Amino acid sequence: MNNPTRKNQEEVYRNLYENHKGTSMAVSSESQAHKRLRFNEICGIFENEQEKFTVHDVGMGLAQLYEFMLANFSDLNWEYSGTEILHEYVTECRNKYPDINFYNRDLAVTPGEDYYDYLLLSGVFHQRRESKIGDWERFSQNILRNAFHMCKKGISFNFISPFVDFYQTQVYYANLPKLLNFIIDDLGRFFVLKHNYALYEFTVYVYKESYIKGLHPDSEFKKYFKVEE
Ligand SMILES: C[S@@+](CC[C@H](N)C(=O)[O-])C[C@H]1O[C@@H](n2cnc3c(N)ncnc32)[C@H](O)[C@@H]1O
Repeated sequence: MNNPTRKNQEEVYRNLYENHKGTSMAVSSESQAHKRLRFNEICGIFENEQEKFTVHDVGMGLAQLYEFMLANFSDLNWEYSGTEILHEYVTECRNKYPDINFYNRDLAVTPGEDYYDYLLLSGVFHQRRESKIGDWERFSQNILRNAFHMCKKGISFNFISPFVDFYQTQVYYANLPKLLNFIIDDLGRFFVLKHNYALYEFTVYVYKESYIKGLHPDSEFKKYFKVEE
């Protein structure tokens, strides 16, 4: 399976990186305040964790989510790693954080054989640019399916809302019914959709059935789950 969106995405982000180094725009973000709000929603999936957990940041750009986690979740016990298609971003991250695993790979094409409690995708589906809408939707479904395969507990991701008051060309506004059908048909029925914060976007958490089942040990609830003990 190939990924027809990759070439254009690499061109877009290479260009931003070369022209806006050292600013939020190097990864196409409007401001640090936007990023903090967005990351806060993305991290909501693990904020109640008591035990040690692993997170993998897919499309990590310059690993600013790692910096956000260091600043805001130092009381939790976690290990961070990331994946990115643009080798320039990967090189900068490896130089900056030599102890962290950064993969230069495309998880839309094939899932990794590495597994994490949570996979996080922030801002990955916003900038469609020259890609066709159909290709973009296939890309987002493929990478979400593969990320879900690699998680032990759940995945967290965001999309631009379709409920906006103006449209920009080259931005992808989620087709919500299509996305919900995909989640239910291909991932599962255990999800949260948060559309209650300032930005014109929403954040979704999708959980593994086995994880949710573990939260409901009462035998009364056994019938709601398909997975074996
Ligand atoms: C808007 S940036 C967000 C970067 C980072 N998550 C952040 O919030 O700072 C989107 C990122 O997704 C990456 N990306 C696009 N297609 C990808 C793919 N198939 N696999 C991994 N990353 C991809 C881009 O290279 C870019 O770094």
